[in-house]
Amino acid sequence: MSTSGRQLPLLLQAALCHVLFFSLLSSSFSASYNITHLPGFDGSLPFRLETGYVTMNATSGAELFYYFVESERNPSEDPLLLWLIGGPGCSGINGLALDMGPLKFKLDYFDGQLPNLYANPFAWTKISNMIFVDWPIGTGFSYSKTAKDYTTEDVEGTAFIYKFLRKWLIDHPSFLSNPFYMGGDSYGGKVAVLTAHKIIEGNEGGQKPLINIKGYLVGNTITGEKVDTSSQAPHAYGLGIISKEFYKLIMAHCAGEKDFKKPQNVLCATHLETLNGFLSEIDVYSILDPTCPDEPPTSAMRSLKENQEEFISSPLSSVPDISCITAALLANYWANHHLVKEALHVKEGTIERFHLDNFDVDSYFYTRSVPSIVPYHYSLITRGFRALVYSGDHDLSIPFLGTLEWIKSLNFSVLEPRRSWHAGGQVAGYTILFSNNLTFATVKGGSHIAPDTMPFECFVMFERWISHQSL
Ligand SMILES: *[C@@H]1O[C@H](CO)[C@@H](O)[C@H](O)[C@H]1NC(C)=O
Ligand SMILES: *[C@@H]1O[C@H](CO)[C@@H](O)[C@H](O)[C@H]1NC(C)=O
Ligand SMILES: *[C@@H]1O[C@H](CO)[C@@H](O)[C@H](O)[C@H]1NC(C)=O
Ligand SMILES: *[C@@H]1O[C@H](CO)[C@@H](O)[C@H](O)[C@H]1NC(C)=O
Repeated sequence: MSTSGRQLPLLLQAALCHVLFFSLLSSSFSASYNITHLPGFDGSLPFRLETGYVTMNATSGAELFYYFVESERNPSEDPLLLWLIGGPGCSGINGLALDMGPLKFKLDYFDGQLPNLYANPFAWTKISNMIFVDWPIGTGFSYSKTAKDYTTEDVEGTAFIYKFLRKWLIDHPSFLSNPFYMGGDSYGGKVAVLTAHKIIEGNEGGQKPLINIKGYLVGNTITGEKVDTSSQAPHAYGLGIISKEFYKLIMAHCAGEKDFKKPQNVLCATHLETLNGFLSEIDVYSILDPTCPDEPPTSAMRSLKENQEEFISSPLSSVPDISCITAALLANYWANHHLVKEALHVKEGTIERFHLDNFDVDSYFYTRSVPSIVPYHYSLITRGFRALVYSGDHDLSIPFLGTLEWIKSLNFSVLEPRRSWHAGGQVAGYTILFSNNLTFATVKGGSHIAPDTMPFECFVMFERWISHQSL
């Protein structure tokens, strides 16, 4: 009797699940492909790569393109991460081949033809399953047949990612039981936190499938708060870019400003303009690197588009300067190559030109509608979700000083005070453990995308944190 009493709701639940699964599936024409070879990579890929589209709205024709990399260790038990790139408008290829993903571009040689790739020995996918997605619509290879699908903002955009994840998991039910983590860097960090919050709300509201979320990790994350920008002057002073006198002037005249992007005080505005002049001369995302264009010259793209034969058979006249051959530049060449698009199973005729970072999305189509995500961090962390907040310390766009400032505003107690953390016998950065399982870490020498500049150190950091060890 008591057993049947317990079984009924379970059966009902199962039945309801089926209805929901079916209704989601019936409107979905999602396609996915296992990719064993990629142009520019020697031999077959030493990991499982799947790409595909998830149909978000069959009526409007909205399709999100994703890259899924299975863990090289134990895919059925290793964590599953959904990783969001910044912008908004930056393609998942950033994650796959520039950030912590399994591929890297060879920078030492480029003749203007197809760029070469190698396997990243420090890929986080050695020990975790990772999904990278071209989000929102208009990013990378994601597209829609309906113009209004290109316009979005934080709240609707986050709901879209949550829907994408549910659909993906319904298509990949074997990953439902893996520990799940949201992750992202830059603006992707902000959206990752909003999405984690959305997932938990969905779980609590009985949305199916239930997502086994354990926590989140974010790198050089945007919060929307004043500290994102107000921390630039002290960091620029600390890094020797501006003088102490000028730094003091900025602090004196900008102290009362609510928003450093729209200063009210005239003197503050003038000083910030001067500061931005200093910053514009260097790569604020990675201050030790040269400033280089991320996109190939138009002539190269023209021959790529109009005359594929020419692009493949003859080196381009405008091969970039060797000091400016960056992974971003190569990614733009690579992903626009027709052989690459074919290998990735990009649908023909959907995207005219691939942009690794499509800044039109941020400038014209996306509204940063949530002013601050600090309360979302507070809510997630106090509910028992684990968090790792890391900062490459050579990033001047979102300096670690600002990150530490908003973390301190959460008023969590310090369980382990600031100390160095090590990788390969060397100091790799500094960490603080706060109560509620919040870990803060700097990555010494790290850029805005720390795993790009400090891959080994970031892998060590990730491996320890994801396996519940102290850094
Ligand atoms: C891809 O490979 C995985 C693992 O071998 C398999 O389960 C899956 O069905 C394959 N997917 C496709 C679309 O062939
Ligand atoms: C799907 O697209 C159609 C046509 O643009 C729109 O009317 C509808 O509201 C969309 N559905 C969802 C769930 O967004
Ligand atoms: C942290 O403490 C300050 C000062 O007491 C207070 O103003 C603020 O509201 C607190 N923040 C949180 C998130 O509790
Ligand atoms: C911290 O995380 C561990 C698991 O790693 C968990 O057992 C513990 O309850 C968490 N502590 C808090 C305060 O959330």
